[in-house]
Amino acid sequence: MKKKNQQTDKIDWSKDEYRKHIIEERKFLWREDSVELYARWIGLKSGMTGVDVGCGLGYLGWTFWKYFGKGGKYIGIDVSEKLISEAKGISKDWLKEGSAEFLVGDTYALPLPDNSADFVMCQTLLMHLEEPVKALTEMKRIVKPGGIVICMEPDNLSNFMRVSYNSVHQFSMEELLLIHKVQFCWTEGRKKLGEGDWGIGSKLPKLMSDAGLKNIDIRNNDIVKFILPSYETPEQKDMSKKIKGYCKKPFNRKAIRESVEEKVLAGGGSKYLLRKYYNFLKDQKQQISSKILQELKKKYYYAFWGSSFFYICIGRKKKV
Ligand SMILES: C[S@@+](CC[C@H](N)C(=O)[O-])C[C@H]1O[C@@H](n2cnc3c(N)ncnc32)[C@H](O)[C@@H]1O
Repeated sequence: MKKKNQQTDKIDWSKDEYRKHIIEERKFLWREDSVELYARWIGLKSGMTGVDVGCGLGYLGWTFWKYFGKGGKYIGIDVSEKLISEAKGISKDWLKEGSAEFLVGDTYALPLPDNSADFVMCQTLLMHLEEPVKALTEMKRIVKPGGIVICMEPDNLSNFMRVSYNSVHQFSMEELLLIHKVQFCWTEGRKKLGEGDWGIGSKLPKLMSDAGLKNIDIRNNDIVKFILPSYETPEQKDMSKKIKGYCKKPFNRKAIRESVEEKVLAGGGSKYLLRKYYNFLKDQKQQISSKILQELKKKYYYAFWGSSFFYICIGRKKKV
């Protein structure tokens, strides 16, 4: 099997749906009060220098800035020149009382000297890499002795297995088995193709230990996803808008095929499994989307997806 270039995942995060993803999915990703708790747990302090690897638009910068930014420094590094330039522009809105630098660079060869940061963080980066331990070892190299490496990554394989409840439709056992089988094959295929491990969240403590980090500890994001009439909070309004957008989007077999086929086949799935899956998705789209839209309009629709496995794992570089 031909492997992809290990330098980056083949996704260009500065474009289309991907760019939209790192904006839309970040809106309600971590709760304010939890971020404060995590900042205390990590030991962030004013004046620290923090590096954000695979920074995208700089989300971790503005999320944690108030806990280290006063007299401190944020360094965002990303392989995408376009995202780095955009992140620099956005930083003018959140950067106060400290400084920031944005660098184009590869996580496997960070453009910073040894022992130069108080902490190094990343979010949803390792899940896309073929060699996460190599990336963690590089993060450890640039952190000062006694400094901290912080990784925020989901276990999407476990997240895929969640059963949600809603007012329109409950999946049958057969449907659940079909969806889950496709998801298992898809996740396995991504790994085989060198596109990263979507179940990586649950492996973070071991990966950090393999990279030589000490005092490893891990917590989970406490967001619980649900939608309940009458959709009044900003989060509920946003959720309602996203569901409407999804329901109105026409079924596009070609787009779905492009995103899943290669991976499902590489992960042990068959063409027959894929055909069954496409037909299932098409029927779902036809039968359920209009019902959801009607219920949303009348403010009847509710759904509960629960909490997801999205971990924040920390490890310390040994003091010399
Ligand atoms: C899912 S996005 C996450 C962005 C940001 N951390 C966030 O949470 O919004 C993954 C990011 O990692 C970057 N990336 C992928 N491979 C990389 C590599 N080898 N070195 C540096 N950045 C990389 C991508 O360009 C993209 O911006």
